[in-house]
Amino acid sequence: MNLSEHGRSTEGDVNTSSIRSTWQAEHVSPSTQEVLAKDEKAFLRQNLSTPCMNALRSLNGSWIEDIEGRRYLDFHGNMVHQVGHANPMVIQAIKDQLDQLSFCPRRYTNDVAIQLAEKLAEITPGGLQKVLFAPGGSAAMGIALKLARIATGRYKTISMWDSFHGASLDACSVGGEESFRRGVGPLLPGSEHVPPSDPIRCPLKCGTSCNMGCANYLEYVLAREGDVAAVIAEPMRCTTVVSPPPGYWQQIRAACDRHGTLLIFDEIPTAFGRTGKWFASEWTGVVPDILVVGKGLGGGIMPLAAVITKLELDIAAEHSIGHYTHEKSPVACAAGLAMIEVVEKDRLVARSQELGESSVYYLRKRLASNQAVVEIRGYGLLIGIELKSATMAEKCLYRCLSLGLNFKVSSGTVLTLAPPLNISQQDLDHAWSIVVSVLESIGIDAED
Ligand SMILES: Cc1ncc(COP(=O)(O)O)c(C=O)c1O
Repeated sequence: MNLSEHGRSTEGDVNTSSIRSTWQAEHVSPSTQEVLAKDEKAFLRQNLSTPCMNALRSLNGSWIEDIEGRRYLDFHGNMVHQVGHANPMVIQAIKDQLDQLSFCPRRYTNDVAIQLAEKLAEITPGGLQKVLFAPGGSAAMGIALKLARIATGRYKTISMWDSFHGASLDACSVGGEESFRRGVGPLLPGSEHVPPSDPIRCPLKCGTSCNMGCANYLEYVLAREGDVAAVIAEPMRCTTVVSPPPGYWQQIRAACDRHGTLLIFDEIPTAFGRTGKWFASEWTGVVPDILVVGKGLGGGIMPLAAVITKLELDIAAEHSIGHYTHEKSPVACAAGLAMIEVVEKDRLVARSQELGESSVYYLRKRLASNQAVVEIRGYGLLIGIELKSATMAEKCLYRCLSLGLNFKVSSGTVLTLAPPLNISQQDLDHAWSIVVSVLESIGIDAED
């Protein structure tokens, strides 16, 4: 089952299930098993990641290749691959930068970092214009939290159960994923959680006619606490591909403004065209006070994240809110600039929107009467297929892997499908034919 040992759904597919062991026994050769055993000996084991399932030897564009030479279309890519894996323009920019300035020690700045910060200010909606880089998403979330505390003089936060904002102690305190929080407390004091807006898993049982119970609940906690520094959320949940109903974010934005609370949007996996807009927050109609981006910002190669905020929040000159060793990494910033250039040059935001729409149309048509499928959701090339059960979702994952398609299963029952935005039409069609044929086989024995 794709559930944690405590029976709750997890951020990703679990790495110790019996279906996975069976798949490995059938597909992974003794020589690969040896590599996996070495990996397990060398690395700390942890839920969701080590032990690993397989080992890779190369990757390119939409494809990854394992050490036995099997190729998979990568619809997972940890959400770093907006411009595809090993994008030649990104690689060239990194190589050129390595020959010029490979690192930037403290007290110095560099032209490439400034250019990337300026570019982010230019493309980010709503006049957000001051930037701070960090070496990863969790660290950037930490910066956003510190900034919110300093700006408001408050420490409480409201975020969503079942959310994920990173693995560090501060980020997992505001996150709502059991696997990241269990056994590591006490977590950050004042980290309040509320039910997320999710029609299918709605804990408030609003059913099909949403009455915005979750927005009212959040507003109620905000008012009762009275001194909340920030509301933190993904504008749309990336893993389950769930976007709150129209009006939700307007209501929360207005409530935040009334209570002097900042709104932080975590767009670490969804920025740079993934959802068919430059930023997923553009779907919400509201502008956050702080926007956090990461993952694909480093062009799918370099670790890089950023906090982007409005001018009025440039108030922490007396504090060290980030100050990470690789803060203004010229190489990572060169990768980021190249990634944005590729997105612009190849019109990948529009492409994501167009291909996403046609894909959802096709999948809905082909799977209309499928007994395993509950719902198909999509925003650009971020597509979620909600299945009836976690067992079905896990079976689907491993059958698709056998046919050469890699993706993630989220919250137990959702197939999260995120191809590179520059995937060829042919590869995309091939992937959907795999998904449809596997779901047809699973739909037939839907009672499994
Ligand atoms: C929504 C969200 N926030 C934060 C993070 C953490 O980013 P990182 O793994 O770079 O620390 C992730 C990573 O998966 C994420 O999906």
